[in-house]
Amino acid sequence: MENFTFYSPTFFAFGKDTENEAGKYVKQFGGSKVLIHYGGGSVVRSGLLDRVRESLQREGIPFVELGGVKPNPRSGLVYEGIDLCRKEGVDFILAVGGGSTIDSSKAIAAGTVYDGDFWDFYSGKYIEEALPVGTILTISAAGSEGSPDSVITKEDGMFKRGASGNAIRPKFSILNPALTQTLPAYQTACGVTDIMAHLYERYLTNTKEVEVTDRLIEALLLTMVKEGPRAVSEPDNYDARANIMWAGMMAHNHSCGVGRSQDWNSHNIEHELSALYDCAHGAGLAIVMPAVFSYVMKHDVMRFAQVAVRVWGCQMNFEDPEKTALEGIERFRQFLISIGMPSSFSDIGAKEEDIPKLVDVLCNGDGRTGSISGFVTLNEEDCTKIYQMMV
Ligand code: NZQ
Ligand code: ZN
Repeated sequence: MENFTFYSPTFFAFGKDTENEAGKYVKQFGGSKVLIHYGGGSVVRSGLLDRVRESLQREGIPFVELGGVKPNPRSGLVYEGIDLCRKEGVDFILAVGGGSTIDSSKAIAAGTVYDGDFWDFYSGKYIEEALPVGTILTISAAGSEGSPDSVITKEDGMFKRGASGNAIRPKFSILNPALTQTLPAYQTACGVTDIMAHLYERYLTNTKEVEVTDRLIEALLLTMVKEGPRAVSEPDNYDARANIMWAGMMAHNHSCGVGRSQDWNSHNIEHELSALYDCAHGAGLAIVMPAVFSYVMKHDVMRFAQVAVRVWGCQMNFEDPEKTALEGIERFRQFLISIGMPSSFSDIGAKEEDIPKLVDVLCNGDGRTGSISGFVTLNEEDCTKIYQMMV
């Protein structure tokens, strides 16, 4: 295991009706003027926004609001949020929604206290300082409720890039699984896929002897295999939703990634798809992961064979472990299809003729120099072949 530091200071309030305590937690974490940030309207329709407003009013905390965050959140609204926070003297941002709303909130939080262009953080600058952010999560997926990360798309060029810093880890996150019961099956499945991707991206490591994190990841993957289909077919199943919600947080607050190198090539390859075609991040990942895994499998056949046996119930073929590894990838692919995820380019509106453009932005956009690195370093030729496998 490699040396590591791990700082995960988020306070979690988990369970039914916990959103009614939002005002109390904002006060506890020092907020005196709040920006409530939300998405395209699901929180208005469900009545959640009204309950959050009431909770702040009960504590006597003034607030302003900014809605309209789109899935794959855009830089334009971030600039608007930064201007609003400065003008109104906001000192706390409350994200009410999914990963997109939380990521947009984190970008506004970092940008408000920064003299330069907030996009500097999405071009590699570490975030040292930000306004405090709290979250009320409505979809289990991105893990942004416990992560130090944010992903934003710059409209000019449609670059989708991430930024990081412990300063943007939420001060508190309110996780009420019942709030996710209004999600359509497709969106639930996209979330399940994203959570599994966060686990796989950490599982694909070049670090040896990482039994504890391997086993944690396997346990969480097994949880998703059991609970994912239940939540998709029974949207009101609180227990399935609850297990998925906590698994989603654990998958991405980095508990499973400490002390080991990680991959993230599937995420980078996917981000170009959701930037160009505006597909759901999880849907893109469902197409990307089986292709990437098959392409890089030979780099460490035993790692893929191990997850095949421990998570997918495959029989270990000691004479030909490659067969076991491939069977595990195929079972994962079939699982994703079974929960309603797409399996090829055309399913998300992607086009074969766009591959050169996708590869160019992926490998050369925003400071990259011809390749992406992770479990395996992939150059332009590799990425072209991987995108072609998805057609
Ligand atoms: O906008 P509204 O109306 O709220 O609708 C949303 C949106 O259309 C809807 N939704 C959310 N909760 C709902 C609901 N509909 C009904 N009932 C509810 N309870 O679901 C749609 C998707 O929401 P979004 O926030 O986009 O989903 P998700 O949480 O999957 O976030 C995706 C974004 O997170 C980024 C992705 O790249 C993508 O941009 N990621 C962020 C990460 C991080 N910050 O650590 C890591 C991830 O790997 C990921 O890259
Ligand atoms: Zn993800």
